[in-house]
Amino acid sequence: MIVTTDQLFKVAYGKFAIGAYNINNMEQTLGLFQGNVESQAPFILQISRGARKYANVKMMEAMIRAAEEIFPEAIFAVHLDHGDEETCYDCIDSGFYSSVMIDASHHPFEENVAITKRVVEAAHAKGVSVEAELGMLGGVEENIKVDEKHASLTDPDEAKAFVEQSGCDSLAVAIGTSHGAYKFSGSQGLHFDRIAEIQKRLPGFPLVMHGSSSVPQEEVARINAAGGKLAGAKGVDEDQFAKAYPLGVTKVNIDTDGRLVWTRVHREYFRDEPEGFDFRKPGKIYVAEYAKFIAHKNQKLGSAGKLEMVRQALS
Ligand code: G3H
Ligand code: 13P
Ligand code: ZN
Repeated sequence: MIVTTDQLFKVAYGKFAIGAYNINNMEQTLGLFQGNVESQAPFILQISRGARKYANVKMMEAMIRAAEEIFPEAIFAVHLDHGDEETCYDCIDSGFYSSVMIDASHHPFEENVAITKRVVEAAHAKGVSVEAELGMLGGVEENIKVDEKHASLTDPDEAKAFVEQSGCDSLAVAIGTSHGAYKFSGSQGLHFDRIAEIQKRLPGFPLVMHGSSSVPQEEVARINAAGGKLAGAKGVDEDQFAKAYPLGVTKVNIDTDGRLVWTRVHREYFRDEPEGFDFRKPGKIYVAEYAKFIAHKNQKLGSAGKLEMVRQALS
């Protein structure tokens, strides 16, 4: 069942975080639904502009509608990840999305407010909610690359002013994470003091943590042992999610980890079966492994086992 992102946030705020997982293809979609149903977790399925281009917008929607039928127990929201203004309007008008993210964080504050406000007006008129971003995460997203020197943490006072002026429904905050498989160069880590300061100024308001993949070292080692070259990849300590959700982090974005599962499964499969060429064989393994990964992640986010609680809150 597709629900609104706000409905999920209301149930989760302060108690657990909702996993927001990116999808790009059929195998990932099947594994995602399977893992969430097996772990009895509500979730957010998110689609980036890159994914919309790669898989075709119509194909994405058809896959999700089909998965909804195959897994009737699932409760989830559909979200546009890192949208520009034009794509936000497209998704709002489609009637399919629960929420959109307008990512105007690379603009100066006033312009970010103005762009976000326009999207909020259009979205709210159609019952769609809006995630905005303030501060600058490091890493690569779509066509924008931000090195750690230029990444900047979200200012708590600005966050409060931004939410009040823009009318957004949730806020992606820069608190030390970055996108991709190479996070935390040097001694950087999550800035819990900063999250606490933001929560103080915005009590009850859902915060979003991007760049939350944990880049498991075992996964990286297996990829490298099977011919990969991911030297020095590292991510967020997944045990820290339990410290983040009491501070208002209600949505946790994970994409890279799913790509690592795909890479490990396929590299190992073709290393061990050099004569193989039936893509359904590694595909089947990937669906099962991705489902296992999702179920594990939901344990760490505290969302595992919360499906019934959400169902009751919605009824
Ligand atoms: O934050 C970016 C997400 O990981 C989506 O990545 O734009 O390559 O689909 P993508
Ligand atoms: P990762 O690259 O850490 O998976 O972050 C994904 C993300 O923030 C999607 O918006
Ligand atoms: Zn992101």
